[in-house]
Amino acid sequence: MRHLMSPLDFSVEELDRLLDLANDIEANPKKYAHACDGKKIATLFYEPSTRTRLSFEAAMLNLGGSVLGFSSADSSSAAKGETVADTIRIISSYADICAMRHPKEGAPLVASMYSSIPVINAGDGGHQHPTQTLTDLLTIRTLKGRLDNITIGLCGDLKFGRTVHSLISALVRYPNVNFILISPEELRIPDYIRENVLRKNHQNFKEVVRLEDALPELDLLYMTRVQKERFFNEEDYVRMKDFYILDKAKLELAGPDMLILHPLPRVNEISAEVDDDPRAVYFRQAQYGVYVRMALILTLLEVEVC
Ligand code: CP
Repeated sequence: MRHLMSPLDFSVEELDRLLDLANDIEANPKKYAHACDGKKIATLFYEPSTRTRLSFEAAMLNLGGSVLGFSSADSSSAAKGETVADTIRIISSYADICAMRHPKEGAPLVASMYSSIPVINAGDGGHQHPTQTLTDLLTIRTLKGRLDNITIGLCGDLKFGRTVHSLISALVRYPNVNFILISPEELRIPDYIRENVLRKNHQNFKEVVRLEDALPELDLLYMTRVQKERFFNEEDYVRMKDFYILDKAKLELAGPDMLILHPLPRVNEISAEVDDDPRAVYFRQAQYGVYVRMALILTLLEVEVC
């Protein structure tokens, strides 16, 4: 039995197969419509979510299975003090697979140790968000045609943004990926990503403050929200929240083929006027999240569709 805690839990070859499967699901949805008949996914969300929880649920429903779960800690027995270990022991007898989001880093890993069903990390604190990374890789590979030989700018809250941490960890395994890390001083990438992921893998990267300086160089711009929920005080959040706003005027500095991604939700960091720009692919990116989660469920449940 396999769990998914980090994008590195899959080899590059396994990831390629998973992304191929997701592309096939998009092209031939009917072929997969009964692949998980009789199976159930539990979505255990101790933190708010729109895309991740609902795309997991849509994914299982599209595969012919069913869904159960909770969307906040308050509506589960966590509110009465139940541990993640006890909860997953129970859920293991109710469902075939589970996706867990939790504000504490490592909580899904703890769950996986007590589980007899596959556990998927659907985001743990400021740590990792591997299924967002699968979504990002599918989006980039499908719309850009490659995962190597790219210059990607990651912009915004690089300190608390778990989607960025997971995406960097995944992309360092592909040749000739250049990273431009764009953030205010206070929200720079954590040391463990800079040292243990980027430097350890001899990766080309630079850190800049001004988005305008990076835009002309980029094949991909990955915008992120300032993570209000991870700040210790409101004052710091208010000071940081509008540090970057991508608008039409700034986009004139970017190349005609630069794709704009965002894991969403966005707040102010991408102006609504950008949504109609053909380079803006963040809504399609969210749609790819369903296909890739369908592929992930099939892979972890070892369901083969001929
Ligand atoms: N991208 C993402 O994780 O969105 P949600 O918080 O809505 O799940």
